Amino acid sequence: MAVELTFLFCLVILSVRANSISDKDLKGKNVIVTGAARGIGYAIADNFLANGVNLIIILDKNVTNGVRAAETLKCKYGRGKTIFIPCDVTKDLQLWDGIIKKHGPIHVLVNNAGILDEDQPREMILTNSVAPIEWSLKFREYARNDKGGPGGTIINTASRSGYRITPFMVSYVSSKHASLAFSKSLGHPYNFKRTGIRIVALCPELTYTAMTAKQTVWDDQLEDYKKVVKDAVWQKPDVVGKAAVHIFKNAESGTAWRIAGGHLSVAPVYLYMTDEEIEKAIKQN
Ligand SMILES: NC(=O)c1ccc[n+]([C@@H]2O[C@H](COP(=O)([O-])OP(=O)(O)OC[C@H]3O[C@@H](n4cnc5c(N)ncnc54)[C@H](O)[C@@H]3O)[C@@H](O)[C@H]2O)c1
Ligand SMILES: *[C@@H]1O[C@H](CO)[C@@H](O)[C@H](O)[C@H]1NC(C)=O
Repeated sequence: MAVELTFLFCLVILSVRANSISDKDLKGKNVIVTGAARGIGYAIADNFLANGVNLIIILDKNVTNGVRAAETLKCKYGRGKTIFIPCDVTKDLQLWDGIIKKHGPIHVLVNNAGILDEDQPREMILTNSVAPIEWSLKFREYARNDKGGPGGTIINTASRSGYRITPFMVSYVSSKHASLAFSKSLGHPYNFKRTGIRIVALCPELTYTAMTAKQTVWDDQLEDYKKVVKDAVWQKPDVVGKAAVHIFKNAESGTAWRIAGGHLSVAPVYLYMTDEEIEKAIKQN
């Protein structure tokens, strides 16, 4: 009898643990998206809300855009559905405890804030590599279910530059390699089994945003770069937002997803653009 009761009790605990909201279901989730004041982050927030998320918390350092983005999403989905908190992800990790206290539980963290500026390698590594690592580890400590947390999902917006070597945007490529390697390593099934924290990476290809509207490569590479990417298929941020929904609902921990021209596939482990390929592209275009 005692054994049976204990068994029943465990079952109840387990099913409560497993959550009334399933881990691959966006419905009812509270989600932090960094860098969601515009661009890809905004599109992820928008599409997550369209798919039943309970709350989006936008963390962005640009207050003007952050307030505007939150206002647009509130009009679209209801006033209680979005919050904007001014935050520089490279400096404001201490905001975490307050956010959890006030708005928790948090089920999903999307590390999306990023910059592309080859003149600021240090700032770029801090924003694109260090910040997603620090915020992920913070979320992991809070959410890991082997320490009583609710479990959860981390999505890192890496890039195609996370697995592909080209001679262009060398510091950006480095910063994204770090964030992709981190996602796969922390998200490794070995870690997932122990913590219940799923980590997946998005690797979008060229997407129309403010980041890519400006010159991204050194002056002396510009002409060649234009030729090399001349035939590239561009996509809109909303396509990446929709892909993020699909990935959230399907991806296993430790996986990385290529999003190119609106199409989704598992990202290659490694790609190297050879000098011959580059010379050929330059001659053809
Ligand atoms: N646009 C592309 O082609 C492309 C392709 C692959 C990956 N990405 C990645 O997607 C992510 C989003 O980029 P995007 O194209 O939407 O650019 P974007 O410049 O439109 O948006 C980036 C947002 O991040 C915010 N941000 C930057 N640094 C921050 C910081 N320290 N703290 C808080 N917020 C900060 C900015 O204020 C901005 O709102 C980035 O990580 C980028 O590297 C972009
Ligand atoms: C916010 O972004 C806009 C462009 O979208 C820019 O004009 C403005 O200077 C930015 N503000 C800050 C504080 O970076």
